[in-house]
Amino acid sequence: MNSPTVLIAGGRTGLLGQALVQVMQGEGLKALAPGRKELDLFDARQVEDTIRKNNIDLVANAVAYTGVDQAEEDQDEAYRLNRDLPGILGQVCRENNVGLVHYSTDYVFDGKKNTPYSTDDTPRPLCVYGRSKLAGEELLMQSPWDGLLILRSAWLFGPFKTNFVSKMIQMAESGRPLSVIHDQTGSPTCTLDLARYSLELVKKQTSGLFHVVNKGQASWCELASEALMCAGLSSRVNPVSSGEYPQKARRPSYSVLDTSKFSMVTGITPRPWVHALREYVFQVHE
Ligand SMILES: NC(=O)c1ccc[n+]([C@@H]2O[C@H](COP(=O)([O-])OP(=O)(O)OC[C@H]3O[C@@H](n4cnc5c(N)ncnc54)[C@H](OP(=O)(O)O)[C@@H]3O)[C@@H](O)[C@H]2O)c1
Repeated sequence: MNSPTVLIAGGRTGLLGQALVQVMQGEGLKALAPGRKELDLFDARQVEDTIRKNNIDLVANAVAYTGVDQAEEDQDEAYRLNRDLPGILGQVCRENNVGLVHYSTDYVFDGKKNTPYSTDDTPRPLCVYGRSKLAGEELLMQSPWDGLLILRSAWLFGPFKTNFVSKMIQMAESGRPLSVIHDQTGSPTCTLDLARYSLELVKKQTSGLFHVVNKGQASWCELASEALMCAGLSSRVNPVSSGEYPQKARRPSYSVLDTSKFSMVTGITPRPWVHALREYVFQVHE
């Protein structure tokens, strides 16, 4: 029997996309990760041809407009990528009876809670990025099918591409002082773990909305401090409030995600983010 083939949108250059390629290949799946020039994801006919010619069994969509602050001034492009594209991919996958794993974000929530957000909590995004990602989820949920998975994740770090953790380490190594926000709390998550957990959900042949993050919570300041400690750097990390570090987009002050639905379906408790961080920093930065 041929091994399943996955089309990974964003798999050529994306932070999560490249982790998905590595994990899927490691599990013996065939991963196809065409770059922008090879496949126009907005062209439904091209996507359908690619699916048919390569006998694609599953599409993973890790393409997004992820510039949270830039999105405030680039609303049309943010909605094109975060709402329209999932709509196009959803329709093609549904019509061709192919599974779709689509990724979303903790920034769909407003942060007014102080206990982890479950998939039953009502989203109320505070910024264009969050609103456009929610619009993508809603478009997909208008015509759900058995093969549709929407996975909300958060605060990603991992190999292959610059991310918050690698930036903090790079800044500390270059001797630059670090001032990092302490009054936003979330669920730091390793891209490789998210990729592995995504595959577990696919194997269960389940569908619907899930929260998939590593266990535990942290502020940006705590995440930076822990990362520097793992890298053996002793630079000081100065905690600053969101008010002292103004950003264009409003972010939730609390967006920890509750993964109990994921654990119930897969039987897996995500490992603590600190373990995943250590492994990542030791492997990449030693
Ligand atoms: N990063 C986080 O902390 C975080 C947190 C929560 C949720 N998420 C979600 O996780 C998913 C993956 O995020 P990520 O951080 O891995 O994203 P990323 O590193 O910014 O990668 C985005 C990918 O989309 C591609 N892309 C952008 N515009 C495109 C276009 N017009 N046509 C084709 N491809 C295009 C990029 O290709 P180019 O390199 O060619 O531009 C890149 O491969 C997203 O759905 C995001 O909302 C991320």
